[in-house]
Amino acid sequence: MSASLEPGIEKLMIKRILLGLFIYVAAISSKAEDGSRLWLRYDTVNTVPQIECGFDSPVVRVAAGELSSFWKGGKVSLQLMADSKHYSLGNDGYTITTHNGVICLGSLSEKGLLYAAYHLLRLQECGIDCSRLDISEKPVYDIRILNHWDNPDGTIERGYAGRSLWKWDELPSVISPRYVSYARANASIGINGTVLNNVNASPEVLSTDNLEKVKALADIFRPYGIRVYLSVNFASPIKLGGLPTADPLDENVASWWRNKVREVYSLIPDFGGFLVKANSEGQPGPCDYGRTHAEGANMLASALKPYGGIVMWRAFVYSPTDDDRAKQAYLEFKPLDGKFLDNVIVQVKNGPIDFQPREPYSPLFGAMPHTQLMVEFQVTQEYLGHSNHLAYLAPMWKEFYSYFSPSCLRAAAGVANIGDDTNWCGHDFAQSNWYAFGRLAWNPELSSEDIAREWLAQTFTTDEKFVSPMEDVMIKSREAVVDYMMPLGLHHIFAWGHHYGPEPWCEIPGARPDWLPAYYHQADRTGLGFDRTETGSNAVSQYPDSLAAVFGSLESCPEEFLLWFHHVPWKYEMKSGRTLWDELCFRYQRGLDSVRGFRSVWEDMSPYVDAERHAAVSHRMDIQVSDAIWWKDACLEYFRTFSRMKYPKGIDKPVHSLKELKKVRLPIDNYTCPAADMLPGGVK
Ligand code: GCU
Repeated sequence: MSASLEPGIEKLMIKRILLGLFIYVAAISSKAEDGSRLWLRYDTVNTVPQIECGFDSPVVRVAAGELSSFWKGGKVSLQLMADSKHYSLGNDGYTITTHNGVICLGSLSEKGLLYAAYHLLRLQECGIDCSRLDISEKPVYDIRILNHWDNPDGTIERGYAGRSLWKWDELPSVISPRYVSYARANASIGINGTVLNNVNASPEVLSTDNLEKVKALADIFRPYGIRVYLSVNFASPIKLGGLPTADPLDENVASWWRNKVREVYSLIPDFGGFLVKANSEGQPGPCDYGRTHAEGANMLASALKPYGGIVMWRAFVYSPTDDDRAKQAYLEFKPLDGKFLDNVIVQVKNGPIDFQPREPYSPLFGAMPHTQLMVEFQVTQEYLGHSNHLAYLAPMWKEFYSYFSPSCLRAAAGVANIGDDTNWCGHDFAQSNWYAFGRLAWNPELSSEDIAREWLAQTFTTDEKFVSPMEDVMIKSREAVVDYMMPLGLHHIFAWGHHYGPEPWCEIPGARPDWLPAYYHQADRTGLGFDRTETGSNAVSQYPDSLAAVFGSLESCPEEFLLWFHHVPWKYEMKSGRTLWDELCFRYQRGLDSVRGFRSVWEDMSPYVDAERHAAVSHRMDIQVSDAIWWKDACLEYFRTFSRMKYPKGIDKPVHSLKELKKVRLPIDNYTCPAADMLPGGVK
């Protein structure tokens, strides 16, 4: 299938893009520091730099346009190079070299040149000497993709930065300038795919009217190297097509999908493919007809195959096939290893439960050697304080990669934290997670520190007096969240529904046990934690033997996973010499002290940050401190009813009583989650 467009349409599209870019450039010169410029705060240059490019195309025009507008150095030459070196770097790879004072960007493809242009600008913005460059880059994954959980009505599932960026009511005739800004931001960090809609997908997403809207977005994103994908509802043939079944082995069903796919590609020739959540949390799927996940995925994959499309089939399933939810995805998917077609990628969340502040990696990774797997990270902070808490997630994602080589995987997906808020992500520092996801999807070997530094330098200032202390805050921030929310391997003790605050006592009559905190923490008079060893659910056995032995023994289990794998007596002696109870108290206190420390570092940063963003971050940090107190008091006061032990020295007296805390109610899934306002005596 040819990806080329008719010349007339192409010209129109290019005009639209150039106009968009021009409006954007003009607009950013006059914008206040409201966070809307993300890390792309380049100043427009006054002199016209010499950008040399012997050919023309929409993608290369964006690359040359960015350099012409923002590159402050000397001559830059963009060259397509088909030598063996550039072949080895693949389509998205590139080189940046200096010859006789000219910077040469070389790549096999135009997309590579686009990434090279953004790389060069990044170096400039980070204050790096560009006089002698010898850079070769090749991404580890060729699919680096954001998953938007956006609904057709403009809401976002687990979104904390306003409403959806996609204005479905206005599309395709009204094109928001933010679509170009979005594409540009993604391209600048190497993201090359976007799933536009929620995994809990409405069948309507595939209606012809909607596909026209999707096409408008795809046309805007294309020159930025971004392909569009859609989440689809497995029952679409019934709900949209009027068929009596969605059985993947029914020929009418397969033919319905083939026709739909043909329609999609007639509008969007470079459409990426489908993301599917099937037989999970009430979503329809092949198991409804006694078929396997592989049979369902393969039917869709066959329809997409002639066009080069793929299926990303999610392994986030937990129908009660076993008494331990942490084991269920493995139990359901491992037997299907080797049964998926070659354009199916099974998309697995990083941990076995659900994006907790800390989880061990999902044992499915490494257990399906004959299946292409990709990792799904959650960029949006569903379980890490929404957009109120500063939690830089690169260290968490690096921790996942520390267990095996990233190159075993085929791709990386990130559940986006982007909405229509002026600053895109709610918290100015949440932008760093979007940034870090893209950078790590390109190269998982990059260090969290380097990514933090380059993000800080571009987003705020290169001044070391700012970058160094704030790098430190960012690096420590995720561990602080773990400490004040769920230390030592505790997990899923969140409040019902919104997953923002603590509710370890939560009981909902009739609810699935594995949706309730007591199922996970298992607190009783003897101790705390979920026994996943041989004497318990034996989830450890799903890990390779060497690791199972480490996790399975109380002595060798890393303390950060202790209560994930073991039910531990309250008086058990920890490595620090403290009892489990004292250590728990110490960790909650340490988390609270850390965020108090972050707050005071940020206070000192005011000379280096514009007043607007300084005040916005300060406000959210106040909420974070207040929430850390809430978490500490709620969890310790509640667990104390089981341990019946005293607080050790050095632990702040609880501010809130358990009785008061049990009364706290938040509006479920409220976007702003004004937790502080609702706490008894909470800090605003
Ligand atoms: C979590 C989240 C849901 C989401 C689901 C998924 O359970 O709370 O909102 O739909 O993950 O990943 O499918």
